[in-house]
Amino acid sequence: KFNKIQTIIEKIKSYDCPLKKTAKNIVVYDGSLDAKVMFIGEAPGRDEDAQGLPFVGKAGMLLNKMLSAINLKREEVYITNVINWRPPENRTPTDEEILEFLPFLQEQIDVVNPDFIFLLGGVAAKAILSTPLSLGKLRGSWHEYQSLKTNKKIYTIASYHPAFLLRSPQYKKASWEDLKMLQKRIYE
Ligand code: URA
Repeated sequence: KFNKIQTIIEKIKSYDCPLKKTAKNIVVYDGSLDAKVMFIGEAPGRDEDAQGLPFVGKAGMLLNKMLSAINLKREEVYITNVINWRPPENRTPTDEEILEFLPFLQEQIDVVNPDFIFLLGGVAAKAILSTPLSLGKLRGSWHEYQSLKTNKKIYTIASYHPAFLLRSPQYKKASWEDLKMLQKRIYE
């Protein structure tokens, strides 16, 4: 698995795109290649770009708390983003950018082959569930992600992004319910 992921990382690095020119470091993943659960965010921010690792800034600290709340360790899950280079000024990635990076994300899902995917925020939900529906509509229930290459159906939840939860803590209750829903299925 390690070699396969390295090959994907090399492909992303050699893929020519404007975001690469303004970013400092490529940001692909943190955690375990044997993870049962994969967490997918949006794009690296300033701290992630500086360190070359996903979710290491303020939003990452909240993600760590969310994980430990359901007894998951950061080292045992796979954490990644839809976009692997930091967009200038942290702007939201465009639909074109999402589509450009999606094949790399799909390949990572096939290599890691998780049982569950937890989508953090609207960009990840749009990319993986190919839907324009809002998180308010998507959260709170199970979805299925079907790989194009393998026949496996992966149980998927779409919920709020930790950066959004930091700005709008009133949504933490709903986020907590989504995490509990995941925890329940993991241990079933
Ligand atoms: N926000 C994201 O979506 N991803 C990160 O890695 C950090 C912040």
